[in-house]
Amino acid sequence: METRLPRAWTISERDYPEKADPKEQLRFLVGYAILAPSPQNSQPWLFRLGDERIDVVPDPFRILQARDPAGRERAISCGSALYNLRLACRHFGREARVHIHPPEADSEVLARMHREGHCEPAPERSLFEAIVQRRSWRQPFAEKELPSDLLETLEAAAREEGARLTRVTSPSLQNALAGLVAEADWRLGSDEAVRRESAGWVRATDHAEDGVPGRALGMGKVEAMLAPVTHRVFNYSDTRASRDRTLACTAPLVFALSTEKDEPEDWVAAGQAAQRVLLSAVARGLQGSFLNPPIQIPELRHRLRTLLDIEIWPQVLVRLGYPTGPARPTPRRPLGDVLQP
Ligand SMILES: Cc1cc2nc3c(=O)[nH]c(=O)nc-3n(C[C@H](O)[C@H](O)[C@H](O)COP(=O)(O)O)c2cc1C
Repeated sequence: METRLPRAWTISERDYPEKADPKEQLRFLVGYAILAPSPQNSQPWLFRLGDERIDVVPDPFRILQARDPAGRERAISCGSALYNLRLACRHFGREARVHIHPPEADSEVLARMHREGHCEPAPERSLFEAIVQRRSWRQPFAEKELPSDLLETLEAAAREEGARLTRVTSPSLQNALAGLVAEADWRLGSDEAVRRESAGWVRATDHAEDGVPGRALGMGKVEAMLAPVTHRVFNYSDTRASRDRTLACTAPLVFALSTEKDEPEDWVAAGQAAQRVLLSAVARGLQGSFLNPPIQIPELRHRLRTLLDIEIWPQVLVRLGYPTGPARPTPRRPLGDVLQP
């Protein structure tokens, strides 16, 4: 299974350096970690390779100060990257043991994965293959019924990683939730700091190493070319809110992943759960995208809890369905940029 990203970033399991030294093998695993989703494709992670271990460190320069001042979504992204690491480690025949905030490590280390003894080839081959197939699909989904046992599979995937999946159960609830997403888009779009920050991550083309290409947000060629400038100056929240409202309203499945508490270790758990849930869906031919704006505004996050009738902490809001065509990947930074000595 191979993926070719826009900036000639290719990874294929056939290239696993079976006979190379352990550090080279660990480096190869990081190639799967960086395929995780991250807000604005900011790729806010760094990796330190040690003796049979990989430390995951949030990149201090890649925090979205306006939208994510506490680094909650950054930690979620690092959690998703960590899940990919675990999956790849097992896929290539070795057990993975994970510590969140290992006491013996520097304080900036969010998680440490130890590569341990040999194990049988992992049964979750389709999940591993889904790492390179997953994309954020921000277009309407095909009108096709979801498999009847899908929800059960996704709920179990979330639970195993310490999160809870709460699905939106009725059309009226889904409408209300879509309204909340639109309201969040309006509020964020009216905040100049957020607008400037978001514009800084829109890319005119696929030729960058990070950020979201305009075409992935549904923009035409000219709009995408101008977006890094126009989105800084003008407030497009009407367009965005109406688009997100439709996407939220029409998706065959919308759900939140939540955790009991709202501490950094819960954010990492939510990230691992989100990735496991998404990959489980992708393995069955589905794609998804995030609708996180209501969670980024404390008051709306509270209203989301009321709407879903939960007392725990929503961390991500996701829509899922069958894509109507192939989805193009977004770029990633080269490995050399995310590996720390
Ligand atoms: C915590 C988190 C929040 C996100 N929030 C949104 C969102 O609100 N809207 C959106 O369109 N994408 C959102 N994304 C998706 C990213 O924009 C996407 O992962 C990134 O652009 C990389 O593209 P890819 O997922 O296709 O690899 C979010 C991702 C993460 C991890």
